[in-house]
Amino acid sequence: MTALADAPTGAGDGAPGPILAEAARRRTFAIISHPDAGKTTLTEKFLLYGGAILEAGAVKARDGRRRATSDWMALEQQRGISITSTVLQFAYRGHVVNLLDTPGHRDFSEDTYRVLTAVDAAVMVLDMAKGIEPQTLKLFEVCRAEHVPILTFLNKADRPGRDPLELLDDIEARIGLRATPVTWPVGDPGDLRGVVDRRDGTFVRFVRSAHGATEAVEEVVDPDRAAHEEGAAWSQATEACALLDEVGADLDVKTFLAGESSPLFVGSALTNFGVRHLLDAVVDLAPPPSARLDAQGVPRQLDAPFAGFVFKMQANMDPAHRDHVAFVRVCSGRFERGMVATHEPSGRPFATKYAAALFGAERTTIDEAYPGDVVGLVNASELRIGDTLYAGEPVAFPPIVSFAPELFATALNVDTSRAKQFRRGLEQLEREGVVQVLADPRGDTTPLLGAVGPMQFDVAVHRMANEFGTTVALEQTGFREARLTDATTADALVGEPGVRVVRRRDGALLALFENRYRRERLATEHPDWCLDPLVGDGS
Ligand code: G4P
Repeated sequence: MTALADAPTGAGDGAPGPILAEAARRRTFAIISHPDAGKTTLTEKFLLYGGAILEAGAVKARDGRRRATSDWMALEQQRGISITSTVLQFAYRGHVVNLLDTPGHRDFSEDTYRVLTAVDAAVMVLDMAKGIEPQTLKLFEVCRAEHVPILTFLNKADRPGRDPLELLDDIEARIGLRATPVTWPVGDPGDLRGVVDRRDGTFVRFVRSAHGATEAVEEVVDPDRAAHEEGAAWSQATEACALLDEVGADLDVKTFLAGESSPLFVGSALTNFGVRHLLDAVVDLAPPPSARLDAQGVPRQLDAPFAGFVFKMQANMDPAHRDHVAFVRVCSGRFERGMVATHEPSGRPFATKYAAALFGAERTTIDEAYPGDVVGLVNASELRIGDTLYAGEPVAFPPIVSFAPELFATALNVDTSRAKQFRRGLEQLEREGVVQVLADPRGDTTPLLGAVGPMQFDVAVHRMANEFGTTVALEQTGFREARLTDATTADALVGEPGVRVVRRRDGALLALFENRYRRERLATEHPDWCLDPLVGDGS
């Protein structure tokens, strides 16, 4: 305790003026996309434009060059993917940009979902040749549930792709988001000449940079010269723009912030074309942090004393130290390393001596942070996802709801002599949100694991073996759907074929079904039964 004796308590820390000014400078966002659409490439280009890296090629190094993405787990290296996510912070035009990286693998995982609870905006990257793919659909659902405004980037415009007007229709039809193009391609798919900036009608010529290692040269051409030099390609583009004008597909900040429309940019992350437009839009259009509602629905003002919530836990990022890092999104006040905050669920003081900024795999000590920033608290094994930390006035932010699991497997402990490690390991994985551990309310002690994507199971088995020395055998079950239920319905469901009731860690009862038809039929036959949807079940 002596080490903490001189620590600031945090109450009333920091003058409100600077806190509001610092918050106003912050832009905290995530990039969402289907794998291969170009998220990693775009992330790297943002870092290049933000001056955080000097030359592109650092983020996605396949040949042992420096990596900025997190790849701390052997499993990630084996698969060549990034399962964990990190926070990249850089300065751009006097702003502080926090880019929360979402895991880049094919499976949707709950981790991605939780990252989206901590951002103020998202950039949706679509491959122009593909448009909306299933992964994008699911992530979009989450953005909508969290009211996250979305900017859209049509990537790979340097390659043959689909008609952009068709893609606009697709976005509207599939996800109900009205795309409002800010830039529009000039030239046929595969023969990109540049884009027209609909805000002022200028032509921005596409100039290839050598593998996009350095910032793109941007040649801005006035409309008359563009018409003269680009001929038919220019008239086609201006015709399309006239059509967009007619249907009113114009940038509309109000509906963007409400999550109804999405400013759209066209470009090519690989060649850096359009990256500056997009990054400028992040700064100019995406909202700064705003007062977050607490569990009672009362806004926690930005200049109130420090408060934040844990949206992600990660254990053993550094195998040499076997530590736990809790990622906390700062919602109000000024965070100061060393301050003693209160851990809301336990009411106990929490020392923040070990606070770190995590830039990819690199960790640097962080001394202060403001609303919108993310702080990595090291040695935070008692924290759980969703927990609030605060200084001064007590506050509790709403819990982060668990995503609807779609895959269920029974976890068997192969080595019975390691029962204690097995139990402790599962508790730890549950605490970090790696998988959901579901118990049988009727006393069966074999835990059932629930996940959204199969990768979550792989990670769980891998970590149980590596960190807890237990061999876990997973037996897949046929359950595919979960619904929130109550004790009365749970009793009524006993004996129903193809149905099972389990209890989640937070006490909620879930009814599991082998298929949707079975569930729908039971719901129709028993309209009084409680079978409520969970977040992300897509129905
Ligand atoms: P992801 O993180 O969303 O999974 O996508 P990533 O950035 O890894 O990009 C997937 C592939 O698409 C990469 O090619 C990348 O170079 C390419 N790509 C990204 N943006 C563009 C673009 O604007 N135009 C074109 N033509 N290609 C683009 P790869 O062959 O898988 O990898 P690499 O060897 O090129 O790194």
